[in-house]
Amino acid sequence: MKDQLSLAFHVLVYLGLIHVTAFVVSGEPQVPCLFIFGDSLVDSGNNNALTTAAKANYRPYGIDFPQGVTGRFTNGRTVADIIGQLLGFPKFIPPYATAADQEISTGVNYGSGSAGIREESGSHLGDRISMDRQLLNHEKIISRLSALQSNKTFTDEYLKKCIYLSNIGSNDYINNYLIPSIYSTSKTYTADEYAAVLVQQYSQQLKTIYNLGARKIAVFGLGQVGCTPAEIKRFGTNGKPCVEWINDAVQLFNDKLKSLVAKLNTDYQDARFTLINLTSISAPQGDVPLPNTPCCQVGEDGQCVPDSKPCLVRALTVFYDGFHPSEISNTAIATRSYISVIPMDTYPYDISHLARL
Ligand SMILES: *[C@@H]1O[C@H](CO)[C@@H](O)[C@H](O)[C@H]1NC(C)=O
Ligand SMILES: *[C@@H]1O[C@H](CO)[C@@H](O)[C@H](O)[C@H]1NC(C)=O
Repeated sequence: MKDQLSLAFHVLVYLGLIHVTAFVVSGEPQVPCLFIFGDSLVDSGNNNALTTAAKANYRPYGIDFPQGVTGRFTNGRTVADIIGQLLGFPKFIPPYATAADQEISTGVNYGSGSAGIREESGSHLGDRISMDRQLLNHEKIISRLSALQSNKTFTDEYLKKCIYLSNIGSNDYINNYLIPSIYSTSKTYTADEYAAVLVQQYSQQLKTIYNLGARKIAVFGLGQVGCTPAEIKRFGTNGKPCVEWINDAVQLFNDKLKSLVAKLNTDYQDARFTLINLTSISAPQGDVPLPNTPCCQVGEDGQCVPDSKPCLVRALTVFYDGFHPSEISNTAIATRSYISVIPMDTYPYDISHLARL
């Protein structure tokens, strides 16, 4: 028992939760709406009706989520769900696939598992809503919102006050660059060139979000793809905790993304962009490195085996399946994105600050 408590303590320190003070959520949300772009880290059901292997609308996904199975790729809430709660939204932001007119005024979640910045990323798994298609969906939502609010000036002012989260790019590595047998990008580009090409395309996409009225935009850097159980299993680590060459490749992307955020803040003086540094936020803080074994039983594809029994103590597990963080990790990430613990966590603003600007 004592050992377990001590381990739990270390996990909390590791996840940064020990620094977190409780938030009392009451009254109005801090911003009128929250729009979410991204991949399976934020998908809340958009892939359910698509023809793809990248789906999570079966047990044991959702085992700790209030509504059970929804298509979220984790046991409970995603990072986007928790940021929404920290911002004071009483309900989860609805997925685009099923959002009704009366739900869209607080924002929409466009995230799609296996989707990337590049159109082709994830295509071997089946259909997905790439970042470019998410932007088209956002245009459609704005048209619907404008029709509902029937005052263009009002809608324009309204959209400026919202927060926009963008969490995409992992699949441009996991389901593209790292699979040379299917995708040619690693033959065409060095890791540095690829990072540059990705950030260039992402830059256009973020400008489109701005051109569609956004003025408060939080851009998530990529997590350490080389530390995911699935990539460790696939490539081995040479005695290190993680696949270092993958982390090095992803770091090139993150560094360029930081420069992009700085440039966007200079070029668009009436907007605020900020970078969420997942490397900093998920760095181990305790002296006990947590094992990165998945909580659920995973298949060859790194996803939970349908109807398999997950681990019991889900508060002590970093990963839920071969790729996706558990709810406890998502809580730590969301909380530190909302209020940064060290300056490196968010650049230049944390999300609570972004909300107040
Ligand atoms: C439209 O919205 C603007 C901004 O909120 C407001 O000032 C204006 O009075 C509205 N126009 C009409 C016709 O309601
Ligand atoms: C993120 O934080 C890590 C330290 O935890 C740092 O090495 C890295 O440079 C930061 N990345 C960016 C893009 O700021």
